[in-house]
Amino acid sequence: MELMIFIGLQASGKSTFFRTHFATTHELVSKDLMRNNRNKARRQAQLIEASLKEGRSVVVDNTNATVEERASIIQIGKMYGSEIIGYYFESRLKNCCDRNQLRSGKAKVPDVAIYATIKRLVRPCYAEGFDRLFYVRVAENFRFDVREWQENEVKDG
Ligand SMILES: Nc1ncnc2c1ncn2[C@@H]1O[C@H](COP(=O)(O)OP(=O)(O)OP(=O)(O)O)[C@@H](O)[C@H]1O
Ligand SMILES: [Mg+2]
Repeated sequence: MELMIFIGLQASGKSTFFRTHFATTHELVSKDLMRNNRNKARRQAQLIEASLKEGRSVVVDNTNATVEERASIIQIGKMYGSEIIGYYFESRLKNCCDRNQLRSGKAKVPDVAIYATIKRLVRPCYAEGFDRLFYVRVAENFRFDVREWQENEVKDG
């Protein structure tokens, strides 16, 4: 059983990657799917727990920018003995703003939201409790380049 945590700026490609790679095998948990909920963190924890309890693998698709946000998710995964896998999406401000501009409707966020997230964004590391970590980059035609995480490598450069 896997608990996957996506990490990356808005428009870094997380939800697209979910659709192309995990939609048929993993439950999707995302705060974007609970716009009217007062306590999204609590609701998210409940949904993750409900899936893991039944042995279903989960993807948590938010920006998950900080160590603290990730820690509360990782803690639930450890409780149920799931493998904790992190996917960090290349988060260059310009690329993400450009892709965001091309979106429409609710998917398009104000640029200031992306600026706010990049200020909080902390790269993940194994010490947080990940069993596996990957570095994902958007490639041409809805493909993705996925590599194993190298802790000392310069990212987003
Ligand atoms: N590999 C790709 N090739 C081409 N376009 C892509 C690719 N991945 C994502 N996109 C496009 O980039 C935009 C942002 O992608 P997506 O919505 O998946 O980002 P996100 O990280 O889920 O953003 P948010 O955090 O705001 O939900 C979308 O318009 C999507 O179609
Ligand atoms: Mg998304």
